[in-house]
Amino acid sequence: MWKEVPEKVSQEKITFDVRELEPILSGPSLKLEPYKPEMAKLKDGSYLYIRPLKKEEVPLLLPFVKKLLDVDHDFYDIVGARVYAELLGWYRNRLKDPYFMIGTINGKLAGFANARVMNEDIHISLHSMAFVRGLRVGAIMYYAKTKYAFEVLGAKEWWATYESYNGFKRWGLGMAQPSYPWPDVQHELGGAKVYYITRQYWDLSVKEYLKQLVKTELEEPTPEVIEANKELIIPENPVV
Ligand SMILES: CC(C)(COP(=O)(O)OP(=O)(O)OC[C@H]1O[C@@H](n2cnc3c(N)ncnc32)[C@H](O)[C@@H]1OP(=O)(O)O)[C@@H](O)C(=O)NCCC(=O)NCCS
Repeated sequence: MWKEVPEKVSQEKITFDVRELEPILSGPSLKLEPYKPEMAKLKDGSYLYIRPLKKEEVPLLLPFVKKLLDVDHDFYDIVGARVYAELLGWYRNRLKDPYFMIGTINGKLAGFANARVMNEDIHISLHSMAFVRGLRVGAIMYYAKTKYAFEVLGAKEWWATYESYNGFKRWGLGMAQPSYPWPDVQHELGGAKVYYITRQYWDLSVKEYLKQLVKTELEEPTPEVIEANKELIIPENPVV
């Protein structure tokens, strides 16, 4: 926009260092207590090791996630595209207070989950993905991030939505999540319906989900499992 000035000025042009603009565009980040790694025994007896994704690992993950855009089944393409944008959004300071975790089996990338703090009450569930199928890795990743939101970060409500039938089956139905009236309340992912969990509902019921429906639990990782997952191995191509 352009408007004539109402006063004589000593400098007609004022320049800014982009470092002065960045705080306006990205805002301050909350100091979130880090997710402490956990492990879960899988159906085949192997262990899924879950840990926070490091920001410096984002460039390693992006080429793999980009390949998901060409996977045209089970909604891997749209979820992959959104995850790609969220990873870049974090890396480029354009996503408010996200948290990301990955699951690995003997170091190999097997699962992904992320969410973000919308405000001190509501956390937004973004995405969960399984890169090996049939072991319920995705189910466990979603549970791990929800548990972290409620029990470590102190969320009061968890807002989710579902692109895929598998996701809806796993958590919308699996956790018997109620929804808010739609379209009055919309999720930031495409304006879809919001399915939610309150802290009370988590404590009363959903906390048991992993034991009841997935038949496993989150445990403190053993030194052997930590050692086996020391190095992150990202598959060349997704096989899902
Ligand atoms: C949704 C998702 C995370 C669930 O992961 P998961 O819990 O590990 O479960 P899977 O997708 O591997 O399998 C789902 C079911 O279909 C079966 N299945 C589907 N494809 C399979 C395959 N290729 N091999 C073996 N089993 C398969 C599984 O046995 C499982 O059945 P179960 O309920 O009896 O365990 C995963 O399907 C995924 O990443 N989808 C794409 C992204 C997505 O939709 N994310 C969620 C957005 S709402």
